[in-house]
Amino acid sequence: MARDAFGRQGFGAMRLREGTADDPVAVVHAALDAGISMVDTADAYQNEELVGRAIRGRRHEVLLASKFGLVWRAEVAGDFDVRADPAYVRQACEASLRRLGVDEIDLYYLHARSAQVPIEETVGAMAGLVAQGKVRALGMSNVTAEDLRRAYAAHPIAALQERWSVDHRDIEQELLSAVAELGTVVVAHSPTSHGLLHRDDLHPVLDEIGAKHGATAGQVALAWVHHRQQVHGVPVVPLPGTTRVSHLHANVAAADLVLSDDELRRLDGSTGVDVQ
Ligand SMILES: NC(=O)c1ccc[n+]([C@@H]2O[C@H](COP(=O)([O-])OP(=O)(O)OC[C@H]3O[C@@H](n4cnc5c(N)ncnc54)[C@H](OP(=O)(O)O)[C@@H]3O)[C@@H](O)[C@H]2O)c1
Repeated sequence: MARDAFGRQGFGAMRLREGTADDPVAVVHAALDAGISMVDTADAYQNEELVGRAIRGRRHEVLLASKFGLVWRAEVAGDFDVRADPAYVRQACEASLRRLGVDEIDLYYLHARSAQVPIEETVGAMAGLVAQGKVRALGMSNVTAEDLRRAYAAHPIAALQERWSVDHRDIEQELLSAVAELGTVVVAHSPTSHGLLHRDDLHPVLDEIGAKHGATAGQVALAWVHHRQQVHGVPVVPLPGTTRVSHLHANVAAADLVLSDDELRRLDGSTGVDVQ
């Protein structure tokens, strides 16, 4: 899947629910109207029906991404198991296709690495979905550099989805060199640290640079992620999420914010808030 297919910025649908701030369908439509194509969900977000409804009639404008493998535990809130065995992969994909109301998922991710199932087995089953026309391209999320290389050896991996923001830069340690070597696109999730970096009282450097550009702290944080492509020489697509049309527009506008080398250096050197 070519870099251009991803667009400059994606739309993270994780928080979309009926009854959230704005009508969720209107938020997705605002994203598409603003030129965003990638809409990212997962079976674990428990909103695939809603996302499917939101893109109905506009399917051709969307690069539809979903994920499998993360299964919530009933007994412990927020805790999950990982399922990545071939039979589960096939079953999860069928269920996502049905909930989304589509014939094909454009980008299908393994949501988290499995300590039990060798990644080649998982990717082998995912490749089978490509061969059947149920999935167009494959992605990996929350994996190691070794996982990514082994996965890629079994089938091309179009996208690696990992957390990346000015205050959360683990991806730079090992994964980026694997990405550069393989030509995989980085989809940078939670680019404002789940919203923390939108606050205007936590990160003085973001506030100060924002004031100079007439931008918010969150827009500067997002612009920092947009600059990763040129800084690291690998394809990077930031994936912010919102439930509000006004925030969607602010996030899209951040893609046009040009930060100077000096500002980027200052942001790199700023301590920021560290939220793991
Ligand atoms: N692969 C993975 O393991 C993984 C993990 C987490 C997330 N993701 C993906 O990444 C996407 C984004 O993640 P995220 O939602 O955790 O992080 P995020 O985009 O960094 O932050 C979202 C938070 O910021 C707020 N926000 C968004 N735009 C804003 C704006 N312009 N001004 C003020 N507040 C704003 C949102 O609230 P409002 O709704 O009020 O705007 C929400 O609370 C998800 O939707 C999902 O697709 C993937």
